[in-house]
Amino acid sequence: MSFYAPTEEHEMLRETARAVADEKIAPRAAETDETEEFPSDVYKSLVAADLHAVHVPEEYGGAGADALATVIVIEEVARACAASSLIPAVNKLGTVPLMLSASEELKQRYLPPVARGEAMFSYALSEADAGSDAAAMKTRAELDGDHYVLNGTKMWITNAGVSDYYTVMAVTAPGEGARGISAFVVEKSDEGVSFGPKEKKLGIKGSPTRQVILENVRIPATRMIGEPGTGFKTALATLDHTRITIAAQALGIAQGALDYALGYVKERKQFGKPIADFQGLQFMLADMAMKLEAARQLTYHAAAKSELAMHGQPQKDLTFLSSAAKCAASDAAMEITTDAVQLLGGYGYTREFPVERMMRDAKITQIYEGTNQIQRVVMARQLLK
Ligand code: CAA
Repeated sequence: MSFYAPTEEHEMLRETARAVADEKIAPRAAETDETEEFPSDVYKSLVAADLHAVHVPEEYGGAGADALATVIVIEEVARACAASSLIPAVNKLGTVPLMLSASEELKQRYLPPVARGEAMFSYALSEADAGSDAAAMKTRAELDGDHYVLNGTKMWITNAGVSDYYTVMAVTAPGEGARGISAFVVEKSDEGVSFGPKEKKLGIKGSPTRQVILENVRIPATRMIGEPGTGFKTALATLDHTRITIAAQALGIAQGALDYALGYVKERKQFGKPIADFQGLQFMLADMAMKLEAARQLTYHAAAKSELAMHGQPQKDLTFLSSAAKCAASDAAMEITTDAVQLLGGYGYTREFPVERMMRDAKITQIYEGTNQIQRVVMARQLLK
């Protein structure tokens, strides 16, 4: 039996997610891109269908979907609207640090509201001068009695402002590098938390990206995720699971572009026949579908490994596979969406057709959760260690 093949339940979930995406999300995608507003109605539709945070375990009130099911949901939402797919993806990114390392008390307090759709959860690792070199962060958390006081500015935080909760990595032991970093839960309502203006981005415009500014934010020490000094490891261990969700997003964007292009070439006539009849274009379509399916199989394989690792069976190749899936799927998505624009010619270059947006949205998947250059560093380190 194939280790990573989706089951019948997975395919049923795909049908459900696709129906919601086709009906509620796709019709809003162009407008969301144009207005650059977070699509609250899409969030509500995802909550109504229980697709907003499917990964949350049942014991915390969630759907308890496995990693492959989560990938499928993100894929289907991204096929319609990449910005909206950051709702299930970032809810997972923000909460996996808790699932991996937090006390039972923190899990009981913060996971159920996410599962119920009452709160979203973001992840705050990067800073202005600590992007690829995440351990160079400057945000400080100083112990003061039974509280920590946080000061610093996190940057590029996806869904900042709309999320109620944030996993924040901060230095608790200066001079100790990666081992001096701890992870905390910070709430939007904590005194001293504010947000920078929305970044003006090339794509994923319906998902706000803002700084999270922390000024003397005093939080109980019990909000630390795991032990002091383990925050950086938790942050990287999280990415081992969630780079797979970015791969899923890339697959969805690419599938959306391929599907649109397939429809178009059968309709569009030049030289007296549908342009689908030209072998030069057929070869382009075949290459697009081939790259997509290769990236999909790698992503599903990585998801199966992630699921095992989440349940007490460490997978020594998860770090490699997660980086490989993210890198392969995002590079494929960039190529496929660019080719889709090419297949639509001048029309593809306008905002009258969705492939232009898909090409812009695809670009971020090569950048966030670690640039594809960092993914190659991670893969090479795994190979050579
Ligand atoms: N799991 C657990 N621990 C890990 C790990 C992993 N996958 N990889 C490394 N570690 C541990 C190491 O063992 C080490 O611990 P010890 O010293 O105790 O052995 C510690 O973490 C530090 O590791 P390195 O020395 O390898 O760290 P480094 O400073 O060289 O950095 C890096 C490694 C891979 C470059 C890392 O900094 C990195 O991944 N950078 C990219 C950052 C990134 O992906 N940012 C994404 C932001 S989130 C985002 O984009 C979300 C969004 O908007 C949607």
